[in-house]
Amino acid sequence: MKILFVGDVYGSPGRDMVKEYLPKLKTKYKPNLIIINGENSTNGKGISEKVYHQFIESGAHVITMGNHTWDNKEIFDFIDRANKLIRPANFPENNPGKGIVYVRVAGKEVAVINLQGRVFLQPSDCPFGKADELIEEARKRTSLIFVDFHAEATSEKQAMGWYLDGRVSAVVGTHTHTQTADNRILEQGTAYITDVGMTGPYDGILGVDRDLIIKRFKTNLPIRFEVANGRTQLNGVVVEIDEKTGNAKKIERVLINDDHMFFE
Ligand SMILES: [Fe+2]
Repeated sequence: MKILFVGDVYGSPGRDMVKEYLPKLKTKYKPNLIIINGENSTNGKGISEKVYHQFIESGAHVITMGNHTWDNKEIFDFIDRANKLIRPANFPENNPGKGIVYVRVAGKEVAVINLQGRVFLQPSDCPFGKADELIEEARKRTSLIFVDFHAEATSEKQAMGWYLDGRVSAVVGTHTHTQTADNRILEQGTAYITDVGMTGPYDGILGVDRDLIIKRFKTNLPIRFEVANGRTQLNGVVVEIDEKTGNAKKIERVLINDDHMFFE
């Protein structure tokens, strides 16, 4: 079982990269399951229904979210019918949507879970406790479990990786938008990376126009974020899982930009 995960798609430059490269990545890696983090996919903030459908039509099976889940208010109108969209499971109980989804691919059921960290992010329930709960539920159905942990602190992400080692197939970090080079298989068989990185502007700052961000650092004044123009990138990972045990066999980074050219 091969899973392609595409890191935080940011605005239209990110969507264009998905459009251009997803078919090529499908040809190269032949993934059975494709997951996209789409929490920044509409103007950098949240996701619209149109973009959700574009991702599904392009071949994605699941869309994960994060701290910007509610930023595009349109989501309140469509989240209940977007059955392949998940938001962090440790959001308050009374929030709309869900944090786990089961998909059937290549004759196997895979559970995909979205969680959010609590360090330097808005308050949420304990992601570790919520993970225990959902994994117990998921393991009754399948040993193939994929976790997108949307978090800021490297330490919190590493803690989640080790905490879930041997209980899930993969823990991939999202949110910080810069791909880390620590992809590995942990001791008990869980694939791990601290951050998958982002898909969108290559010359901005985390996807945002860099002049605006520099101005903010220099003045401490609030600014309106705008999606950066110019060159683009795609960041992702491909995880290979043993279908019998649910353990990961391999986790490979995907990095496409002008400094890392794509080879078929
Ligand atoms: Fe985020």
